Amino acid sequence: MREHRVASLPGDGIGPEVCDVARRVVDAAGARFDFEVTWDEQPVGGTAIDAEGTPLPPSTLEACRRADAVLLGAVGGPAWDDPSAEHRPEDALLSLRSELELFANLRPVTAYDALATASPLRPEVRQGADLLILRELTGGLYFGRPKGRSAEGGVESAVDTLRYSRPEIERIVELGFSLAEGRRGHLTSVDKANVLASSRLWRQVVIEVAERHPGVRVEHALVDSAAYLLLTQPTHYDVIVTENLFGDILSDEAAAISGSLGLMASASLGTRTTPKGRFGLYEPVHGSAPSIAGQGVANPLATVASAAMMLRWSLGEGSAADAVQAAVEAAIEDGPRTGDLGGSDGTEAVAEFVLGRIGHALEVPA
Ligand code: NAD
Ligand code: IPM
Ligand code: MN
Repeated sequence: MREHRVASLPGDGIGPEVCDVARRVVDAAGARFDFEVTWDEQPVGGTAIDAEGTPLPPSTLEACRRADAVLLGAVGGPAWDDPSAEHRPEDALLSLRSELELFANLRPVTAYDALATASPLRPEVRQGADLLILRELTGGLYFGRPKGRSAEGGVESAVDTLRYSRPEIERIVELGFSLAEGRRGHLTSVDKANVLASSRLWRQVVIEVAERHPGVRVEHALVDSAAYLLLTQPTHYDVIVTENLFGDILSDEAAAISGSLGLMASASLGTRTTPKGRFGLYEPVHGSAPSIAGQGVANPLATVASAAMMLRWSLGEGSAADAVQAAVEAAIEDGPRTGDLGGSDGTEAVAEFVLGRIGHALEVPA
């Protein structure tokens, strides 16, 4: 029996509901594929602010460092939205990403035929779309200094800084090329090089790195028109590599291609490896969805698909990853549908369907 340790950070809003499903699915996969996961559950986000006065308690970060991987639900919500508050739940995500050096965020997007009516795009536009957004995760506007608010002569102002160093760009772009080599050999680098200095450095680095990857067809695109083309010609794309904020926005936009944010999975990877694979943090692309929290109606598939990525990238459980991903696709094909996909089924109905597909349904809580 193989043993894995995963830090589980359910967080706020629908986070605990979707995390719970993903954990049960991983446990079921463990029963079938002969491994056991020890879940080290820890507070994060608004829940942690309420309990411990800080969105990322040191003990939570330590638990993540001790683990083979981290599974996170979502953080944030109206209770912690005061713009003058000292701490925000979202700060926890940024600290986790920078402390754990998770510079690469993989966000796959697939247009499943069965969801033709869930997507607002015409079937002939989205059919066959299958792309990967590779978002830089530890640089750019989120982390650049100076940052913050000040007042001079009674006038308030605020600043965020978009900074990238050459090595930061090089490592994410290198990964973009190697991911493209494992797919259809097409890389689109998205920037704003017509305006931003950071984008001009980014583009220069992409051109240089491209020389080491002659098998990859590379193109440069400006983010504004790319945002348009992503929805009008989604099948054009294979791997998109881009800076932090552009990747954040484009990946939520790309959820319209798949049909719902409730399907969008992600893996955040760094350089640290374990004997099993690459250490990483796995979370859905969506947030805490406050308006549907606690109702048992959230779509858990984005988190379950994120857990499949965790099994593959961090735990070295490729067969289990395949089984979980297949179960997610079966649910999309002919399983129950939550409200985001136009259905009226609940989270638990989806959970039971997926658990059934894994083959070893564990006990379902009352
Ligand atoms: P959101 O992603 O929470 O919700 C956007 C829309 O999608 C809402 O209509 C919501 O109901 C729906 N939705 C999202 N996930 C769903 C699911 N699994 N099933 C069904 N419907 C789903 O974005 P928001 O409303 O802009 O943000 C809410 C809070 O979440 C904010 O505090 C924000 O900072 C936070 N947030 C956290 C993360 C994270 O923890 N990784 C990511 C994004 C936003
Ligand atoms: C995401 C979220 C986060 C981000 C927020 C909540 C800090 O939107 O993971 O996409 O902007 O990165
Ligand atoms: Mn986002």
